[in-house]
Amino acid sequence: MDNNKKVWFITGASKGFGLSLVKQLLDAGQLVAATSRNQQELIDAVNIQSNNFLPLQVDLVNESSVSLALQHTHEAFGRIDVVINNAGYGIGGAIEELTDKETRLAFDVNVFATLNVIRFVMPYLRKQRSGHIINISSIAGIAPGTGWAIYGAAKYAVIGLSEVLAADVKSLGVKVTVVAPGAFRTNFLTPDSLTLTSTPIEDYEDVRASHAKYLKMDGEQAGDPEKAAASIIKIAGEDNPPLYLLLGGDAYNRALNKLDTLHNEIREWQDLTCSTDFEYDLSNS
Ligand SMILES: NC(=O)c1ccc[n+]([C@@H]2O[C@H](COP(=O)([O-])OP(=O)(O)OC[C@H]3O[C@@H](n4cnc5c(N)ncnc54)[C@H](OP(=O)(O)O)[C@@H]3O)[C@@H](O)[C@H]2O)c1
Repeated sequence: MDNNKKVWFITGASKGFGLSLVKQLLDAGQLVAATSRNQQELIDAVNIQSNNFLPLQVDLVNESSVSLALQHTHEAFGRIDVVINNAGYGIGGAIEELTDKETRLAFDVNVFATLNVIRFVMPYLRKQRSGHIINISSIAGIAPGTGWAIYGAAKYAVIGLSEVLAADVKSLGVKVTVVAPGAFRTNFLTPDSLTLTSTPIEDYEDVRASHAKYLKMDGEQAGDPEKAAASIIKIAGEDNPPLYLLLGGDAYNRALNKLDTLHNEIREWQDLTCSTDFEYDLSNS
């Protein structure tokens, strides 16, 4: 399948990856519905007048707002081919430094919004017997960093739900990819997007050092968002897209290190792990 005039639905599109995706797709003549918390900001940021562009003001945490947005998209363009669950933000702090409210909001936007979109787009995709759902997770969903437990947990959730979704919808002709970017030069690390605990506890020196390291990286991240957007668009044109797509050399290295660590630890504790079976022959290990 090539990318000839597909209908795209992209969340969180007024900046960063979402904005780069919308602009590249419109330039390529694609039909694009995009969501933002602020429709006017989205229109201004995209700055392209075209009947191919449907800017939508959506509260992704609200089921009826999401359902309506997908209905509008389907009415406007007659189908939905590629769904990119992109909206999300980073949240930093040791677990006890973040309130229940802050923690739940991060899950609402990073996880439950994605579930809302999937829940309401699947009826269209099932009927079509086609479609590609692309969920933006993070390398933090594979190898999270010190001080980012809640962000890591949310992005792990996105990977977990994507893996099972892929299996659940395969026979319906729907494809799923989960994208795990490393550090990219978007608005992600700016105070506009990032939430850091407002009640730091002095004991967490490593957490503070990790946050300082990330904040210093803002504007100097190795990853180019335009290239990330182009790579995401490329996989949507593949007949056999990957379930996992890592983006960035840092993501690649962190993921491989994590796999080595995981592999080594699983092997190191094999006997204790397997000894819990009713019968296990330790001499086979
Ligand atoms: N940049 C990186 O280094 C990096 C690395 C790994 C993963 N990611 C992931 O990539 C995705 C896009 O991030 P980005 O790097 O492009 O960052 P960005 O420039 O800050 O853009 C984030 C987008 O997400 C939406 N968003 C942010 N907070 C939101 C909230 N509270 N409620 C609803 N929507 C919200 C915004 O949409 P509106 O303002 O238009 O509503 C915004 O357009 C996120 O899921 C992020 O976790 C980024």
